[in-house]
Amino acid sequence: MSIHYGSPRAWATSADPVYEALSGAIVAASPVSLLGRSVLDLGAGTGATSRALEAACSRAVALDVSAAMLAHRHATRPPAVVGDMATIPLATGSIGGVIAAFSLSHVEDPGAVLAEARRVTVPGGPVIVGVFAATGTRHPAKEVVEREAAGRGWKAPAWYLHLKDDLEPRVTDRRALARLARDAGLAVVDLRDEDVDTGVDTAEGLVGWRLSGPALAPFVASLPARERDDLAGAAAAALGSDVERLRLGVRILASVVPVGPGA
Ligand SMILES: C[S@@+](CC[C@H](N)C(=O)[O-])C[C@H]1O[C@@H](n2cnc3c(N)ncnc32)[C@H](O)[C@@H]1O
Repeated sequence: MSIHYGSPRAWATSADPVYEALSGAIVAASPVSLLGRSVLDLGAGTGATSRALEAACSRAVALDVSAAMLAHRHATRPPAVVGDMATIPLATGSIGGVIAAFSLSHVEDPGAVLAEARRVTVPGGPVIVGVFAATGTRHPAKEVVEREAAGRGWKAPAWYLHLKDDLEPRVTDRRALARLARDAGLAVVDLRDEDVDTGVDTAEGLVGWRLSGPALAPFVASLPARERDDLAGAAAAALGSDVERLRLGVRILASVVPVGPGA
């Protein structure tokens, strides 16, 4: 079942800044210096992780299955390739490192993706994975916005339920994630949870974050402008003015491709 990112513009408006803050924490967990290093951004989307890589002075290369996501502001983005991260279109040992920020949970076979990440990365190079921590902070905005949308006819798409129920648990569980990395031949250096402050602290920001995600954005785009505003306004009012700042739990696996004989 493929996941549809119907609205890069919607994503880039509100979700992208949240993912940039989260990506910064993942990039900072690299077990190897990223200075000047070429790093492949798997599932790059509209570029939040690539920007975090560039802020760390590495040379990002973006890969995503969605040409529309990569096309967003392409003129100011690093080089990009449309492709499937389960069959990375790069030569063996040709890249300095790989990062998969919130993308490993989107594939049917995360082990195959990590094996590919290992194959294309130079020995000693980092392979870093970020996922939402299953035990991390849950913000009430998710439930509030989904309830308001459901009241107006939104139904969670089948792919979203598959992602939440089947795919995410395969990579969010600590032990499962570490085992996937080891089975792919990676040396796990660190596996930690971080609570990241996204900087979003208004009801409007929280509602925008939820409505711009791929599960809701196509529904929102299908509404007449007045109903769209009504949905956003009702969700913001339900959250109230004294909102809880958006902090999200991220689980970060930092590994390297082994060096030397038998690696
Ligand atoms: C949640 S977004 C994360 C984007 C970005 N890393 C960020 O943090 O903003 C997941 C991205 O993975 C991409 N994706 C999903 N399955 C993929 C696959 N098999 N190969 C490459 N990209 C994929 C989607 O198109 C989407 O852009």
